[in-house]
Amino acid sequence: LLITIGMMIGSYFLGSVSFAVVVSRAMGLADPRSFGSRNPGATNVLRTGNKMAAALTLLGDAAKGWLAVFIAAYVARHFGISSVLVAGCAVAAFLGHVFPIFLKFKGGKGVATALGVLLAINPWLALATAGTWLILAYVTRYSSLSSILSAIFAPLYYLLGGNVAWRLDTVIALAIVTISVVLLFRHSANISRLMTGKESRIGGKK
Ligand code: G3P
Repeated sequence: LLITIGMMIGSYFLGSVSFAVVVSRAMGLADPRSFGSRNPGATNVLRTGNKMAAALTLLGDAAKGWLAVFIAAYVARHFGISSVLVAGCAVAAFLGHVFPIFLKFKGGKGVATALGVLLAINPWLALATAGTWLILAYVTRYSSLSSILSAIFAPLYYLLGGNVAWRLDTVIALAIVTISVVLLFRHSANISRLMTGKESRIGGKK
C-alpha cells in the first residue's frame, strides 16, 4: 500500500508538469493561459500558429502520462503488486495534469495525457482512440468535439477489446472511465461554445 500511495504521489507530480506552459516559455511564446481558450494544452498552443510548439506540447503531455503508467506497470509486474497500482498512477498522473500543484491547480483538459495513459495500458487501445480523434478532427475541424467523442469511445474500446486483444481488468476499466468523466467535465465550456456555434475550429482564424 505504501508503494502504491508513494507512486501515485510521484505520478501526480509528474502529471503536474504542464508542457504547454514549459514549451511556450522555452520557445518564447505567450503563456497559453493568457489567450484563446486560456487552456494550457496543445490545441491552444496551436492557436499561436506555432505547430512545432503544439506538437511538443502534445508529445510532452502524452509522454508523462505514458511514463507514469509504464513505470507503475513495470513495478506491479516485478513486485507482484495488483493492477490497483497501475490504475491509481494512471488517474493520479491525469489529475496532475488537470489540477497541477505547480500552477495553483489550474491545469489542462487532459486529452494528451489521457492518450499517453492509454498508450501505456495498450498500444492498440491508444491507436483506436487516437485514430477516432484524428478522423473526427479531420471531419469536424473541432479539437474539443473530437476529444469529447473520443473520451466516450475510449472506455467502450477497452471493454470491447477486453479478453480479445488484452486481458480485461475491472480496476483499469474503472480508471479509464474516471479519466473520461473528468475529461468530459473539463470540456463544459467547449460544449456550451459548440452548442452556440462559438467554438473555434482547427486552422480557423481565431
Ligand atoms: O485538448 C483540449 C481540446 O479538446 C480543447 O482545447 O483549447 O479548444 O479548449 P481548447
